[in-house]
Amino acid sequence: IRERLAGRPIVLVGLMGAGKTTVGRRAATVLSLPFVDSDAEIENVSTMSVAELFEAYGEPEFRSLEARVIARLVQEGPRVIATGGGAYMNAETRQLLSDKAVTIWLKADLDTLMERVARRAGRPLLKASDPRKVMHELMEKRYPIYAKANLTVTSRAAKREVIAAELVAALD
Ligand code: S3P
Repeated sequence: IRERLAGRPIVLVGLMGAGKTTVGRRAATVLSLPFVDSDAEIENVSTMSVAELFEAYGEPEFRSLEARVIARLVQEGPRVIATGGGAYMNAETRQLLSDKAVTIWLKADLDTLMERVARRAGRPLLKASDPRKVMHELMEKRYPIYAKANLTVTSRAAKREVIAAELVAALD
């Protein structure tokens, strides 16, 4: 993987609550790389929150903005990029990342995901009356796709420093 890395960005994929942002930020510090989160970048360029974007323009519009933002971020040199949970479902984005990045799936179990998403509101997909069921369905649908990433790191309910260290070790 070190060879494959060669200046490429490291892109974290995985479900909401897997820790892409917290673990990614920490891993970037350890690797002395800049860190960027695609949701935060989308919010910057649109000056709206992800929830507001979903509300005002709908999910397809959000997805196309997301794909464009990620395409730009991967061109900007070595860095750690945390992506929104749905980004890797886009076939074009997957192709781009497989050409230009090293992808890491941060994989977590349902309890860990649900515990973590409870800490931050504003995820439109989990507004349903049974968010656990929604998350379970997303796991079934998305895990076979996330599995295409270059590496998989299991994100347990441990400190982000521990997971970040495992992630950095996995790059060797
Ligand atoms: C989404 C995940 C969110 C955000 C949006 C949709 C998804 O990002 O992009 O709410 O489809 O899984 P996080 O994975 O950072 O929560």
